[in-house]
Amino acid sequence: MNLTKEEQAVLDGEQGEGKRKAMEILVALGKIYGAERLLPIKNAQIAGVSYHNLGDAGMEFLETLAEEGAKVEVPAMLNPAGMDLIEWKKLGIPEDFAKKQKRIVDAYVKMGVKPTCTCTPYLVGFRPEYGQHVAWSESSAVTYANSVIGARTNREGGPSALAAAIIGKTPYYGLHLKKNREPTILIQVRTDLERPSDFGALGYAIGTQYPNEVPYIIGISTVNESDLKSLSASIVTYGGAPLYHIENITPEARRKIHPLPKEKGIVEEEEIREAYEAINDEMEEVEFVCIGCPHCSLEEIKKIAKLLDGKSVKRETWIATSRKVKAQADRRGYTKVIEKAGVKFACDTCMAVAPLKGRFKSMMSNSAKASYYARGNNNMKTRFGSIEECIKTACGG
Ligand code: F3S
Repeated sequence: MNLTKEEQAVLDGEQGEGKRKAMEILVALGKIYGAERLLPIKNAQIAGVSYHNLGDAGMEFLETLAEEGAKVEVPAMLNPAGMDLIEWKKLGIPEDFAKKQKRIVDAYVKMGVKPTCTCTPYLVGFRPEYGQHVAWSESSAVTYANSVIGARTNREGGPSALAAAIIGKTPYYGLHLKKNREPTILIQVRTDLERPSDFGALGYAIGTQYPNEVPYIIGISTVNESDLKSLSASIVTYGGAPLYHIENITPEARRKIHPLPKEKGIVEEEEIREAYEAINDEMEEVEFVCIGCPHCSLEEIKKIAKLLDGKSVKRETWIATSRKVKAQADRRGYTKVIEKAGVKFACDTCMAVAPLKGRFKSMMSNSAKASYYARGNNNMKTRFGSIEECIKTACGG
């Protein structure tokens, strides 16, 4: 891997131990993946924030790095933490977990990282432009950035995204290269997709049938932001590739910059129904309802407020969102209606990274991805449906 004189000096420790460690991570990655050089990035999104996932070793690594003077060179923000950083008590988070979670966020802040704590950075002021290179690590955000925005990012791990933020560069390989962004399979959708959760089911169907392929999807005429958030989260969770194209909709497909693949697959109504069936478990009762994976947008919160107006929930119900979007919901009066119905906001966190294991046996959500993690990480039985169905269940229906 070719380093400039300045980059080599950083690797030699001339700018301190924190930067040396970060450069070492990037060079090691670049060598593994055959990158010729480093590439400047616009910003970085860093996963590996929850104490639930990091533990003491991860927390101490971050604190040491911060003490060694590591500072980010480009705007950098955090993925969800293991708790709402302000209202953690309301969500039943234990005090010693909260203390350690705060130490982790403080270490990031000391390095200059913004504690946005969201997987939808594109909704809170960190939306890259078409063709810009970034280093993001949360899988749904990475997929959204690549596919919907046309920015370029690999699916970074937490440490590599942090290292990229500290250096302001990332190794030039993978999805930063145009040739690796070409679709590898044409998927014809032959059924109507009416709700965002249907797009989550589509992501399941494509991901499980064609793992690690980059699909070029045809047969979809209109989508909204919620549909694309939902598809971005599920297709990478079940399939692995953080990139898709949709004819006439996503930017690289609109610009017709790639050759179309010869291989073809079809998704029909049956595959969508099977996806719902596969994600839904048999269960007697839903104990916990959580909406917002990826984090809810303002539009989604508006919809929830409308559905809950004058009602009250009978089950523990959370809305996971970013603090910034919640503040917008406060100003528009949605929060008041929602909280009056007994629903709790879970800002800065989500159902997958909060310490929920053993607290609930079952969960309903509007997200195929959340269902995957509820089962896998937290041993919950899962139910998956639209926001309307989630609210109906939350209210005892
Ligand atoms: Fe975001 Fe958590 Fe889902 S990080 S995409 S809400 S699992």
